[in-house]
Amino acid sequence: MARSPNEGLHVGLIMDGNGRWAQARGLPRTEGHGRGADAVRRAVEAAPALGITTLTLYAFSADNWRRPANEVSVLMGLLESFLVRERTNCRRRGVRIGLIGRRDRLSPALVRAIETAELATRDGPRLYLRLAVDYSGRSAILGAAAGLRADEPCDERGFLRQVNRACHSDPETPPVDLIIRTSGEQRLSDFLLFESAYAELVFVETLWPDFGGEELRRAVESFRRRERRYGGLPSTSRRLGLQNSA
Ligand code: FPP
Repeated sequence: MARSPNEGLHVGLIMDGNGRWAQARGLPRTEGHGRGADAVRRAVEAAPALGITTLTLYAFSADNWRRPANEVSVLMGLLESFLVRERTNCRRRGVRIGLIGRRDRLSPALVRAIETAELATRDGPRLYLRLAVDYSGRSAILGAAAGLRADEPCDERGFLRQVNRACHSDPETPPVDLIIRTSGEQRLSDFLLFESAYAELVFVETLWPDFGGEELRRAVESFRRRERRYGGLPSTSRRLGLQNSA
């Protein structure tokens, strides 16, 4: 599933380090999440000018339910207020909001906020902003596999559509080109597992609340310097006709 260099980028962001940001300042962890929500706004604002057309933000994993109830409740509150407050801004700026992940464990008020934001912004042409909430990459793959039929062949593109459907995304969402994780941690944590088969990975030390447009620009620049080979040979070898040699 190689992509044309002219297509817009799909960037996934693992927003990590809110708790450490707060603890370093003697603040409760939840304060870090509040500042993290400000960083979300900055990333969304900066993305279209960097050639990003799909931005997937890991806001709450299916495993995050293991956190203390108060922290979960603050995170859900921040999501709801983000959706309520930002839907008008997003609509004005051509940003389409979508939620990927399970909805059946979310509060009715949050589900309403999601549905209203999705409806209000559904025609946004500049950026597809996917918020991953109660999301698990493994569950999306399992959901897609459960829908397969033995008598119907399914190629990678078809399976990607199924994975997208299984997590309530637009089925045509492309694979992810670049995954950025903040706070120095270097793992995927069940994020976009099928979609990231050939994603470039960028790990930055910055804690998520300090992340902004400039950090995003640097990560995209580093991505653009890399050569994506999709299992083939470097372009110089291809020019020399070595692509298909053993
Ligand atoms: C990981 O940092 C971050 C999260 C689990 C939540 C991310 C949420 C936000 C950025 C705010 C709300 C989101 C939106 C879309 C408005 P951590 O708490 O695990 O940090 P730590 O590793 O330093 O403890």
